[in-house]
Amino acid sequence: MAAMATALITGGTAGLGRGFAEALAAQGHDLVLVARNRERLRDTADALSAEYGVGVEAMPADLVDADQRAAVAARLADGDRPVGILINNAGFGLKQRFVGGDLEAEQAMLDVLVTATMRLTHAAVPGMVERGRGSIINVSSMAGWISAGSYSAAKAWVTTFTEGLSAELHGTGVTATVVCPGFVRTEFHDRAGISKSGIPGFLWLDVDQVVRDGLHDARRGRLVSVPGAQYRVLSTLARYAPRPIVRRASEARKR
Ligand SMILES: NC(=O)c1ccc[n+]([C@@H]2O[C@H](COP(=O)([O-])OP(=O)(O)OC[C@H]3O[C@@H](n4cnc5c(N)ncnc54)[C@H](OP(=O)(O)O)[C@@H]3O)[C@@H](O)[C@H]2O)c1
Repeated sequence: MAAMATALITGGTAGLGRGFAEALAAQGHDLVLVARNRERLRDTADALSAEYGVGVEAMPADLVDADQRAAVAARLADGDRPVGILINNAGFGLKQRFVGGDLEAEQAMLDVLVTATMRLTHAAVPGMVERGRGSIINVSSMAGWISAGSYSAAKAWVTTFTEGLSAELHGTGVTATVVCPGFVRTEFHDRAGISKSGIPGFLWLDVDQVVRDGLHDARRGRLVSVPGAQYRVLSTLARYAPRPIVRRASEARKR
């Protein structure tokens, strides 16, 4: 049997990324974890290798920084240490409005959500195609189907990019899957300073559910993974309702 693939996970120290790391380690995959906070990276790597007996590389990198992004890309392109699963997960939201907001914060969000996803995928895929197997999992959001500011626009890019990638990879043995969760209990909202109090309980998903469904869908080669029955209904509405109605509903949500 072929050796278990190594998985590289951006943002693998918290929230969804940490969940993906834990689930894949439990299945016996070696890991490469990318995040900024070195101490947390080391603690996470130590904890996962002690618990599951897998190899865990801690790779500190700020995906806003072009040189540090390039170092992660070089790790992905290294044919001597092949990475068979890439999870583009790192990300954050902004509380600000776009008009009059901090432009550098907008750029940083785009750098992590879009540029890092594009460049890391570009680095990882050729080796996967050559080996005839591999999996790209891009963490997008339900937000990509509505019109809730520049975060929505960036996630729309992630979703559409993954659709195109999947089509291009057809028949290669490499799959691309986009995970589109709604609200998930992670550090995301606290980090952005976004209040969680107005969000009804039935809309919250657990990390474990998103991770389980995402990995299941990726393994089956499915393109889109929408965890949770409530979001399968809502995503159907968001994707197939006339766009003017989606825009109106998105505005109402923000008020
Ligand atoms: N939570 C939700 O409701 C929700 C819903 C839909 C989609 N998502 C998406 O899910 C993904 C994961 O978010 P989460 O909710 O799990 O957030 P989280 O709990 O805040 O975790 C974010 C992770 O990304 C890393 N990270 C942040 N900025 C980074 C940077 N510049 N360079 C490298 N690593 C960075 C963080 O580590 P360091 O701080 O150490 O760098 C951390 O490991 C994101 O793409 C998010 O947009 C979240």
